Amino acid sequence: MTQAVRKAFATGADGYDRARRKLVPCFDEFYRTALELLPFERAARFEVLELGAGTGLFSAMIAEAFPKAQLTLFDFTPEMLTIARQRLKPLGRRVRYVSADFAAGATGRTYDAVVSALAIHHLPDSGKRHLFADIWKHLTPKGVFINADQVAGESPAVDRRAREVWMRRAREMKVAERDLAAALERMKQDLPATVGQQLAWMREAGFVDVACVYRNLIFAVFSGTRPGLSQDGFR
Ligand SMILES: C[S@@+](CC[C@H](N)C(=O)[O-])C[C@H]1O[C@@H](n2cnc3c(N)ncnc32)[C@H](O)[C@@H]1O
Repeated sequence: MTQAVRKAFATGADGYDRARRKLVPCFDEFYRTALELLPFERAARFEVLELGAGTGLFSAMIAEAFPKAQLTLFDFTPEMLTIARQRLKPLGRRVRYVSADFAAGATGRTYDAVVSALAIHHLPDSGKRHLFADIWKHLTPKGVFINADQVAGESPAVDRRAREVWMRRAREMKVAERDLAAALERMKQDLPATVGQQLAWMREAGFVDVACVYRNLIFAVFSGTRPGLSQDGFR
């Protein structure tokens, strides 16, 4: 499965950015919501990890909104990270890159925020649960986890209908048929979970203030916070 996901992104890396806005018809609201959930002042210095950073599209938005943020882009497809390196080259040492599989854990450091966009749904459900727990461990107290991802419908009928409407909207946006075909090919590797399942796994991992703050058909944005330290431990 891992190999198949990596291969799908390696093959499509060059055309990935071109079709984004059409394949994610709610692109602006979706990414903007995820960005605005970062609870930092514009001038704040903080460390953020993006899991499945791909071509750096979301990390670039974070870097622009928060000019002093330090970013770590984590992805297991070198072809995607090559494009991210070109995109973020002007940021120099504000950015580091980790080429690895997040199913095996995040990284040794801790971060003020861990974010992800359209990546975690590639893991099986057991992997998502494990990853949420791992992310919790890699956050500083009061650190936030923001996950903008694809979700499954609550029943096969709900799922089918959401996918039909999503595809109709992508075509209304005049997505090129070859880009849609490439996306549908990649989506054969998708393993999305429902909103309810993911909220439960986030709470189970120890996150508080867990919420799905945005949903549009097959797209949703989740947030949760690692509690701060109190004298008695974590609160
Ligand atoms: C759809 S792209 C999203 C890229 C970017 N976050 C965005 O919003 O455009 C998904 C990315 O997740 C990466 N990915 C998927 N599963 C992964 C895993 N287990 N470990 C590391 N990267 C993974 C893929 O290589 C791909 O670059």
